[in-house]
Amino acid sequence: MADYRIPFSNRSHLYTDAEIDLVTGLMRNAKSLTQGVHQQTLETNFSEYLGTNYSFAVCNATAALEMAAQLCCFEDGHEVIVPAHTFTSSAYPFLKHGAKIVWADINLETGVVDAAELEKCISRQTKAIVVPHLYGYGADMVEIVELAKANKALVIEDVAQAIGVKVAERKLGTFGDIAVFSFHDQKNMTTLGEGGMIVVNNERFADVIPMLRHNGHCNYEMEREDYWLPAMGDLAVPMLEGTHLWPNNFCLGEIQCALASELLKRVDQINVEKRKRAIKFIDGLRNQSLLQFHRVNSERHNYHLLVAQVSGGRRDQIIRALAYNYGIQCAVQYYPLYRYPFYQSVGLGDAFCPNTDLFFDSMLSIPFAHSLTDSQIEFVRAAIQEVVDSV
Ligand SMILES: Cc1ncc(COP(=O)(O)O)c(C=O)c1O
Repeated sequence: MADYRIPFSNRSHLYTDAEIDLVTGLMRNAKSLTQGVHQQTLETNFSEYLGTNYSFAVCNATAALEMAAQLCCFEDGHEVIVPAHTFTSSAYPFLKHGAKIVWADINLETGVVDAAELEKCISRQTKAIVVPHLYGYGADMVEIVELAKANKALVIEDVAQAIGVKVAERKLGTFGDIAVFSFHDQKNMTTLGEGGMIVVNNERFADVIPMLRHNGHCNYEMEREDYWLPAMGDLAVPMLEGTHLWPNNFCLGEIQCALASELLKRVDQINVEKRKRAIKFIDGLRNQSLLQFHRVNSERHNYHLLVAQVSGGRRDQIIRALAYNYGIQCAVQYYPLYRYPFYQSVGLGDAFCPNTDLFFDSMLSIPFAHSLTDSQIEFVRAAIQEVVDSV
């Protein structure tokens, strides 16, 4: 593997001294390292941050999506609509838990799904719609929720890449029935590499999530003379719509929860800085007919990722020049899910998603971690300008 001067996968952001002191302090002093006060505090803080009622910390967004799929209680024939242009774990948990996936196409300009594309996929069997806010851009949630309500479908917002982003003055994650967040190493806020949240909008879901998340553990409801008998705690398989839900262990450790509460205080600032950088980067490039960016200078985009579409079939030529002449490792995202042998092997290889194909075949994702310095970002911008001028 080549040693790139600017690798694509840089850790998201650097920690402040206060955050490092918080972590080391807890390593020395915390009474418990899981299921404690920091988890409860984070859940309260996160709900306050979003403006919602029910938030639960989990070990990553994929775990949150697993639970989201369980909460849908799919029955035979149920369908879930998922854009084929997304990270794989927006999709496969729904397949595992019994739904048939129907691939939706995306809007070519924004890279995310919209109500018009979703409407083409709706049927009487549609039980849920998954909406990934990719790259940090918020999809048209007002129209999407309207469409879902009219068709009695649940909405699952995949906010893994878009924490803090607002649509119609409301934070993402507050529109759908269920929302998932990721604090993975490369997200705009990261809790030591892994972490996430699941957010729900109703008590019915909120009641079962603690058990679903933690092996079915709960308190005994009856009065007990001896607290240790018949066991310290009860075990219950959570029930929803008359169905047993299998429990999991998807907990997030106390240190990561405490760090998440601290990072929540500055994630908006990280978003502002990334957006400012992205706009400067985009506006600083000439020959925008070759590279087209989705330029959104508002809270609707946090520029978790900085992507462009390359016209004239020159994408791979540009990636090659950046990698081999400048040591800049760009990426292409996201391989249309129906092209993977995995999805083909389960009968999901067919789709009519021309925008998904075109977007993937022409897109370029530029290294854009918050931890990169201004001079590294400027080096990337200047290199892209030189390459674009020479192809
Ligand atoms: C859109 C999307 N959904 C879900 C995930 C899964 O997140 P995690 O790594 O926290 O499981 C990712 C991770 O990159 C993602 O980009």
